[in-house]
Amino acid sequence: MTTVVWPVQGLWLRTADVDLRVMTEADLASVCDSFPADVEQDPAATRYALLDEGSNRRAVVAQSYWRALGTWSPASWALPFVARNGDGDVLGMQWLEGPDFSTDRVVDSASWLVAEVRGRGLGTQLRTAVLELAFRHLGAGAAVSSAVVANAASLGVSRSLGYRDTHTSVLEHSGETLQHVRLERDAWVASGRGASVRIGGVGPALPYFGLGDEDD
Ligand SMILES: CC(C)(COP(=O)(O)OP(=O)(O)OC[C@H]1O[C@@H](n2cnc3c(N)ncnc32)[C@H](O)[C@@H]1OP(=O)(O)O)[C@@H](O)C(=O)NCCC(=O)NCCS
Repeated sequence: MTTVVWPVQGLWLRTADVDLRVMTEADLASVCDSFPADVEQDPAATRYALLDEGSNRRAVVAQSYWRALGTWSPASWALPFVARNGDGDVLGMQWLEGPDFSTDRVVDSASWLVAEVRGRGLGTQLRTAVLELAFRHLGAGAAVSSAVVANAASLGVSRSLGYRDTHTSVLEHSGETLQHVRLERDAWVASGRGASVRIGGVGPALPYFGLGDEDD
């Protein structure tokens, strides 16, 4: 029998059209190959002066994944889900993050899809899946998100799932305006939007979030 070292990677979510699994080392090459050229990366990420742009972008993808699991704690965690269709093709990624989770029970999210499948409702399915995980199984009290005001698709996902505008801020590196939005747990439960999401692998992962068994 193989020992499962990191049960968080056994978490899975399924929507009508998408299968989400927590990223593993085996996903790294296909995720890097699929990562869209138009998706902006963290301007503060390490850059390697002697590498070309493609190598630098792959390095940011890989280091974000390693950092997420490598610096994990119940107080502050980040879950990178790889989204695939029924044929196993990588469609994108959906992140769920709890940067101060043990203190505020607030989750944040970020996502990207390959260009060919955008605008068909899949981004909404991805966010729905992680919100249901957060509110139904992880005890989240609220979810926040943010996007530059020009990103109609990202803000469209948030608005169609019931998030409300809270405030704006200005991005230091670009001067663009960022719209912040928030969704409360009660609004999510009342909406019934998560009912169609199937979720598995939760039990063995819960202690890594500092949570006891759901039946306790
Ligand atoms: C952001 C992203 C994940 C959204 O996923 P998507 O599958 O394209 O979005 P959906 O089809 O689920 O659309 C969600 C809502 O936004 C609206 N929308 C989608 N694309 C839009 C666009 N280009 N302009 C205006 N509205 C748009 C949809 O009509 C829908 O609203 P509705 O439910 O009221 O009809 C995807 O577009 C993407 O990968 N973009 C590039 C990466 C990015 O910007 N990520 C976010 C920053 S972290």
